[in-house]
Amino acid sequence: MSLIRSRLPAPRKVALARIPTPLQPLPRTSEALGVEVLCKRDDLTGAELSGNKVRKLEYLFAEALDQGADTVITCGGEQSNHCRATALAATRLGLGSTLLLRTDDPARPPATTGNILLDRLAGAEVRWISRPDWAHRDELMAAEAARLRAAGRTPYVIPEGGSNATGSWGYVMAAQELADDLATLPPRPTTIVYACGSGGTGAGLVLGAKLAGLAARDVRVAGVNVCDDRAYFVAAITRICGDLLARWPMAATVDAADVDIVDGHVGLGYARSRPEELMTIRDLARRDAIILDPVYTGKAFHGVVTELARDRARFGERIVFVHTGGIFGLFGNATAELAPLL
Ligand SMILES: Cc1ncc(COP(=O)(O)O)c(C=O)c1O
Repeated sequence: MSLIRSRLPAPRKVALARIPTPLQPLPRTSEALGVEVLCKRDDLTGAELSGNKVRKLEYLFAEALDQGADTVITCGGEQSNHCRATALAATRLGLGSTLLLRTDDPARPPATTGNILLDRLAGAEVRWISRPDWAHRDELMAAEAARLRAAGRTPYVIPEGGSNATGSWGYVMAAQELADDLATLPPRPTTIVYACGSGGTGAGLVLGAKLAGLAARDVRVAGVNVCDDRAYFVAAITRICGDLLARWPMAATVDAADVDIVDGHVGLGYARSRPEELMTIRDLARRDAIILDPVYTGKAFHGVVTELARDRARFGERIVFVHTGGIFGLFGNATAELAPLL
């Protein structure tokens, strides 16, 4: 463990993730794109319980257990990776879980495929909520918590994406892991690129990179947003970092100038794919056997490819793409869209 990492005032965590994850060179993708590309395999933090959410859940579940929780409540889109990981982690730790899943018509819920199948296998209670109700998700989770408390249970609410100060510790520590990984490579101007969906991964990486002094090593961090826009995520990430530093004071600050969001790649909207994004998923699979997901990593990597076509030097001489997982999303609606392209 690096000296910096051992000095950070990190809260307790429960071991859920298989870390450190490998940093894998992508030789054929590097050749095709004309820049060195490596993949930080956070899709390998586990099998069923995998992806970026597991790093966050290690800290969130420790807090839940310390508060005596016997069940957790969280929310997400119908194919939410975060909800699936939360349901499986809860079951692994002997807790119950309730998931509020957003869908077009709660009276006609989607088929039990992909992540939904895994939510059900893990025994999660699933409540379908409409898009208008999603605007009130925090109140709905609070109401669910009140209902459980009245029934004698002790619930713990995890916000959307596990993206708060506690959860972001997972990526503060992942940034230290990346600093160790990069120390084994020849120094080169590098950008760590990640898919940004609710801001927790970005908050952890931006703050963690600062704490590890990565800028002085010519290593930057950039997020490709898969929903909302740059202004939304600059605000979300600086807010989460501010909350984290207020609770665990450290010699670092994060302001808007520290947050690089590569906007313009949301395409048709959250969880809606364009053929060119699906073709990028196909290309990466065929070149280097990396399987991206349609909602986050596929869209973000397609953003990288698009930016490079405009400006080969956009990310320096080396890209470290953080593969944040999500493979089960391929086995929802995306299967039918992807199959004709193969
Ligand atoms: C596979 C995957 N990648 C990236 C993200 C985005 O991470 P964050 O919500 O921390 O921005 C998520 C979740 O939202 C995800 O499931």
